[in-house]
Amino acid sequence: MALVTSKELFEKAYNGGYAVGAFNVNNMEIVQGIIEAAAELKSPVILQASAGARKYANSVYLVKLVEAAAELHPELPIVLHLDHGADFEVCKECIDSGFTSVMIDCSSKPFEENVAISKQVADYAHAHGVVVEAELGTLSGVEDEVSVDAENAMYTNPDQVEEFVKRTGVDSLAIAIGTSHGAYKFKPGQNPKLRLDILEEVSKRLPGFPIVLHGSSSVPQEYVKTINENGGALKDAIGIPEEQLREAAKGAVCKINIDSDLRLGMTAGVRKHLTEHPDHFDPRQYLTDGRTNVKDIVAHKIKEVLGSDNKI
Ligand code: G3H
Ligand code: 13P
Ligand code: ZN
Repeated sequence: MALVTSKELFEKAYNGGYAVGAFNVNNMEIVQGIIEAAAELKSPVILQASAGARKYANSVYLVKLVEAAAELHPELPIVLHLDHGADFEVCKECIDSGFTSVMIDCSSKPFEENVAISKQVADYAHAHGVVVEAELGTLSGVEDEVSVDAENAMYTNPDQVEEFVKRTGVDSLAIAIGTSHGAYKFKPGQNPKLRLDILEEVSKRLPGFPIVLHGSSSVPQEYVKTINENGGALKDAIGIPEEQLREAAKGAVCKINIDSDLRLGMTAGVRKHLTEHPDHFDPRQYLTDGRTNVKDIVAHKIKEVLGSDNKI
């Protein structure tokens, strides 16, 4: 199957009470690990590239790697998505070069500016058969010290979502309900709680409309431990509890973004391999273990968090 947009995938996910995983890709081994898990579990999948990934690997390599995955797995619906597109130009570049979905992220800009740029991207994307995700709200770590007012200001305001979607014509919306990017989300002992009440309010105002969660890594402690036992020095941290993500996936959340957990898995695999085999210097040897961890993590997410197995 050629690469697909997420339109039908989200319709099925919304109605089926599950979400599609959006995993960040930066190199061949990450693409392979994700695709192997999705293929074995018969799950649709979104492979997404950030600006950093496109700079690191060169966007052409990433597009071709994902196209190779689609060619090798014609049975699998695969979306190639731009993660956190900063402006119209980068979105256009991706639309013109084979991406089937783009995110325009103007969430840090004033509402009117966010509307104007998101609409410009949606108009261009739709004319080229590509779908668009935009964002409302601020994703950042919620620390103990933050006041309730400041905390509430970061979350997506449900009163704005209907107008935003209507005026922009975007196909999905990323919202802020307490997730945050990176491996250091919460300190151990904190009790992370997603604001599922805000999600509920948003979905009441946008019936049937796909919602996206960024910053949804759960920071699996076994991989952090493996890294630190093999020469790493990661600080203690915890991520988003998986059962809360599962709850969100049963409702309007159709896309869940995971990057940091894959980074931890890849690093744990490579570090452990090199500790156990200090004589190895062939990248194929240690990257095999990194890739296996990526596959295991994605398989776990598909079965236990997203619920997207056996959906193709
Ligand atoms: O949302 C951010 C993703 O984890 C991508 O991270 O910009 O370091 O590639 P990156
Ligand atoms: P994590 O850092 O929680 O994996 O989030 C990734 C993400 O949101 C990519 O857009
Ligand atoms: Zn993100």
